[in-house]
Amino acid sequence: DNPALIDTFGRVATDLRVSLTDRCNLRCTYCMPAEGLPWLPGEDVLTDEELLRLLRIAVERLGVTDIRLTGGEPMLRPGLEDLVAEITALRPRPRLSMTTNGIGLAKRAAKLAAAGLDRINVSLDTVDPETFRAITRRDRLSHVLAGLEAARAAGLDPVKVNAVLLRGVNEHEAAPLLRFCLEHGYHLRFIEQMPLDAQHGWNRGDMVTAEEILGLLRAEFELTPSPSERGGAPAERWLVDGGPAEVGVIASVTRPFCAACERTRLTADGAVRSCLFSNAETDLRGLLRGGADDEAVADAWRMTMWGKLAGHEINDAGFAQPIRPMSAIGG
Ligand code: GTP
Ligand code: 5AD
Ligand code: SF4
Repeated sequence: DNPALIDTFGRVATDLRVSLTDRCNLRCTYCMPAEGLPWLPGEDVLTDEELLRLLRIAVERLGVTDIRLTGGEPMLRPGLEDLVAEITALRPRPRLSMTTNGIGLAKRAAKLAAAGLDRINVSLDTVDPETFRAITRRDRLSHVLAGLEAARAAGLDPVKVNAVLLRGVNEHEAAPLLRFCLEHGYHLRFIEQMPLDAQHGWNRGDMVTAEEILGLLRAEFELTPSPSERGGAPAERWLVDGGPAEVGVIASVTRPFCAACERTRLTADGAVRSCLFSNAETDLRGLLRGGADDEAVADAWRMTMWGKLAGHEINDAGFAQPIRPMSAIGG
């Protein structure tokens, strides 16, 4: 009687994305305003003990096999290396990955790998220092590049790079980014911009679509569909110049992949969400602090996932952005 996280469409969530903090040390224009956001008060954020209890319940009772640490910026969470060690000590051992902006990674990649982190995705929208500063409002490109190097040297494999293209800002960076990633052996994925920014400034016309991205790349590279299995992965993959190197496109808006979604989400303040785009959340922190036992918590999580919608409604008339921005949900 330990049913997994199944929904009414028969999808099973085995992949848990955990936001460790809603804070960030960059200020990407497509994510948050220059002054930052009103961060969650400290007492609202799950303690390590609470977080580990929820992850243990997910792994032991709910069939979660893959955990991804996100933010905000997950490396801003104090004691991250200890958390990684404790998460990878859970049984059955979950595969553990992290999505980060790479600031500080140069110094920490080896420690994170030693603590048990399996792989890493680093956000990098440009390899031009000026464009990096324009997008992130910080002058830190060299830190991210050093972080990528350190991740590879530490044996994190694969090292993936996530890039968002912004019209008129870094479209011309698509091919140079791919060249850079091919040279270094990083797996590059381009992401369509989604309506998840805190400023609610997204508009469809400014989004660089998957079709456009492929067109930009095809001017310089030959792309053929990758023969590898996609499964529930957001990225469609293409062989570059005959392979074996690949490039991915995450077309969340123009080619949604909701029908194969395997994800459940936990926010830094302990709310479980069945989708990036649904405001239906369940406050597990309240249950924990109210003395609920593990099975009651597991049941609340199952109930939340049972109510998961068929998909996001970005392309429907009347779509309204979720209340929480991306930085507070955890990508
Ligand atoms: P891999 O297992 O390495 O392929 O990870 P991933 O691509 O799922 O994770 P990552 O954190 O690198 O996310 C890359 C992009 O995919 C981000 O922009 C995410 O917001 C987006 N993404 C991840 N999960 C979902 C999802 O469930 N729905 C949508 N629409 N986008 C998602
Ligand atoms: N749309 C698409 N991707 C986004 N990211 C942040 N905000 C958005 C958005 N509105 C990206 C980050 C990071 C990944 C987790 O999501 O750049 O690479
Ligand atoms: Fe899954 Fe929601 Fe993402 Fe669609 S938008 S893939 S349903 S989490």
